[in-house]
Amino acid sequence: MSVNVGIDAIRFYTSNYFIDLRTLAAVRGVDPDKYMLGIGQDKMAIPPPDEDIVTMGASAAKSIIDRDGKDRIELLLFATESGIDQSKAGGVFAHGMLGLPARCRTVELKEACYGGTAALQLACAAVARNPSIRALVIATDVARYELASPGEPTQGCGAVAMLVTANPRVLAIEPEHGLFTSDVMDFWRPNYRDQALVDGKYSTRVYLQALQECWKQYREQSGRGYGDIHRFCYHLPFTRMAEKAHERLAKDSGIDLTDEQLDQQVGPSLAYNRITGNSYAASLYVGLACLLDTESEDLAGKRIGLFSYGSGCVGEYFSGLVQPGYRERLFTHEHRAMLENRTELSYRQYEDIYNLPFPTDGGTHTFSRYRTGPYRLAGVKEHKRLYETVS
Ligand code: CAA
Repeated sequence: MSVNVGIDAIRFYTSNYFIDLRTLAAVRGVDPDKYMLGIGQDKMAIPPPDEDIVTMGASAAKSIIDRDGKDRIELLLFATESGIDQSKAGGVFAHGMLGLPARCRTVELKEACYGGTAALQLACAAVARNPSIRALVIATDVARYELASPGEPTQGCGAVAMLVTANPRVLAIEPEHGLFTSDVMDFWRPNYRDQALVDGKYSTRVYLQALQECWKQYREQSGRGYGDIHRFCYHLPFTRMAEKAHERLAKDSGIDLTDEQLDQQVGPSLAYNRITGNSYAASLYVGLACLLDTESEDLAGKRIGLFSYGSGCVGEYFSGLVQPGYRERLFTHEHRAMLENRTELSYRQYEDIYNLPFPTDGGTHTFSRYRTGPYRLAGVKEHKRLYETVS
């Protein structure tokens, strides 16, 4: 008999700093409605110099570990496309910071924004094979484009940690899925660059094509259709993309979607992304956390459809069933407090942080202390990152 596996806990973390897109629009000489309505973003989260993918990922995971313990965590999958080392997995730093058991398989995964879903599915497979273990998935990224480029207002950062177990108490992941891989150059970042390169309009078309292919397969494999799914979560490069994706999916399903239905079916997953921006591998799961936190209707027993897209490209459509009592497992209060207590940056502060070079000379460098979560990047010495716990 197959085991019920999926998400037993989900925690989201983002930087304590943001820039309002009205501020950016004024400097760029752009109508703010282009950002707020055209791409559907209000603010973007900016990581200070002492925050990186590891501190964000570990900060997201810490609340789960503090509450649910670390025993039986035998797998840590760390998904990112903003890797800090070509060799050592970011997850190994996080493993140390979280004090996880040494008996653990830890690895970093990459396929653009799809990495988080690859990690989640691999974690589910590992737990299905041995239901006595638990797996920790960390998806964490910093989205960074060139200043004054079309991608700039879609920047952001964030991390999501998920505990994957048998008999999960938040979302049981169903086994059916639709998959799509195609070798395309819509978005990429060569090793020698710290900003992504993107063929923006093309990327939105490939996203929609991947969705159509994945959805078709998902429907064939599961025998389910549009009406079997209660709420929809999409990969969120910016919130308007999710709305466009849902309009396409509804149209392909022969549904004449009203604005009210769009708002009801997709809207509850968008609020966090709208004020944090893209967090690549974490982004779909920021949307899921947002839906579970903010939807006023009790979702227990309801099916959530999820579409994951990673440029390059890989897509997957899959679904999950919300578990009874899920609300007691959420970190809604912590998420809300974190988002309400952020510090707004001026344009000058944003650009100064953006342009701050990361030391590469092998010397000893100490980073100024900004407001972070429980962990920070204190500095770098002999090419080694030095992390510390914030007391
Ligand atoms: N009021 C209201 N709307 C306005 C407006 C105004 N004053 N001015 C413009 N708009 C609208 C436009 O009509 C347009 O709407 P539609 O898309 O519905 O036509 C929208 O604002 C965007 O404006 P532009 O068409 O001028 O596009 P742009 O040059 O600003 O670029 C973008 C948009 C291509 C998405 C760009 O932001 C970009 O390159 N982003 C990064 C790439 C990306 O996120 N791709 C998504 C798919 S790939 C993926 O999902 C992986 C990933 O995470 C990166």
